[in-house]
Amino acid sequence: MAAKTEDLTELSNIFSTNVKNYLSHVPTPPTLRPTPPVPVTDEVAAEAREQLLLVCRRVISLVGGPIETVMGMSAAFHQTTAMKLAYDMKLAHNVPLDGSPIALAELAAKTRAPEETIVRVMRALTLQDVFVETAPGYFAHTSGSAVIGVPGIEALIGHWVEESFASALHVSDVLRENNFEPPEDSRNSAFNRAFNTNKNFWEYAYTDDKPMGTRFGQAMASMDTARGPYNLVAVYEPLRAAPKGTTLVDMGGGTGHVAIAAARKFPNLKCVVQDIGMVVNEGRDGLPEELKDRVEFQQNDFFKGQPIGGPGVYYYLRHILHDHPDPGCKKILSHIASAMDSSSRILIDEGIMNERMGPEGNKMTVTLDLQMLVMCNGKERTEAQWAALLKSADERLVIERVWRAEKGDIGIIEARLA
Ligand SMILES: C[S@@+](CC[C@H](N)C(=O)[O-])C[C@H]1O[C@@H](n2cnc3c(N)ncnc32)[C@H](O)[C@@H]1O
Repeated sequence: MAAKTEDLTELSNIFSTNVKNYLSHVPTPPTLRPTPPVPVTDEVAAEAREQLLLVCRRVISLVGGPIETVMGMSAAFHQTTAMKLAYDMKLAHNVPLDGSPIALAELAAKTRAPEETIVRVMRALTLQDVFVETAPGYFAHTSGSAVIGVPGIEALIGHWVEESFASALHVSDVLRENNFEPPEDSRNSAFNRAFNTNKNFWEYAYTDDKPMGTRFGQAMASMDTARGPYNLVAVYEPLRAAPKGTTLVDMGGGTGHVAIAAARKFPNLKCVVQDIGMVVNEGRDGLPEELKDRVEFQQNDFFKGQPIGGPGVYYYLRHILHDHPDPGCKKILSHIASAMDSSSRILIDEGIMNERMGPEGNKMTVTLDLQMLVMCNGKERTEAQWAALLKSADERLVIERVWRAEKGDIGIIEARLA
């Protein structure tokens, strides 16, 4: 990739070319004003965006220098500290969304936090263009701070800065005890250490901390915003041509956001959302009236079995298998294999890690890989690891096709019985 050069002049040329390409292919130039984010869907603009970010990262490494790079990485958790305090103080909700400024004294009165604490947090956030100080002692929203209060995004932020941040601290203890090999047990993770529990994250959240469980469901529903426009409904063409009444089983489908989108787009589909615990009722309660005859919710533990079989069934797993170490995944997949026939398909919608690494690696997939390690001893997998996992669950399971996104190390792995 061009931006791999160490020549600053060359980097500057790459930068200029890509600024031109970017600006000529996006509907409006990017802004820090508090307007809703516009996803970049145009291919030329997306490629130019990628190059621009790579160039910026390379310039920061080169010009910032090694000490700043490693110190920055080592203390990056204080970005989380600042975001967590902003989340707890509800700063985003208390600054006017129309972009007008608020005086520090008024913000302090609204949040019931001391002015000095707000200033300290704002110093860290405004460094990253999250909020802006418009005049001494006056703060306004930027695009970055305005999204903090959007419900699904706020839930996702809460999941990162609360249970994930608290758990990450314990990851070394868990790994050190096992010669740095992650235990093959989702109930013996850093999360378990942090929350002093033998339940896995979902068992704990759905029984011991229901607000955490509800927030997690909301966070998952907003993942498409974080992942971009690449998703089952947009990409997986065979669903369009599937015969009327074809069943899509959304395993671990949470409150059913993907199944609902699929049922809306494909009137030929009947969707069954399977999950455990309270999310099943939450999903059922929130199901739009017009979809009640085509979307149903079912309590089903995927480690215990798959009750839905028959020809042509699609078994869809989004962000499920990355949650679990290999033995758990094998159990889930072998139950599906037992319910399948040659016309059924498994659709695994997950990260597909690049074999090669480096600055052009995908930040989201790499972050999720460590997130899975921390929360449940899970992991992101390469295409070869996915193929090996399928085969180890059932000799007959093979990859039919990988619907890979051009960018982002994500895709849908379509598997069938050979
Ligand atoms: C990472 S979330 C993914 C949710 C959804 N598929 C998505 O992509 O937005 C994992 C889901 O698996 C569900 N889950 C956890 N353990 C389960 C089990 N034993 N059986 C069925 N679902 C389970 C959780 O409740 C949660 O909804």
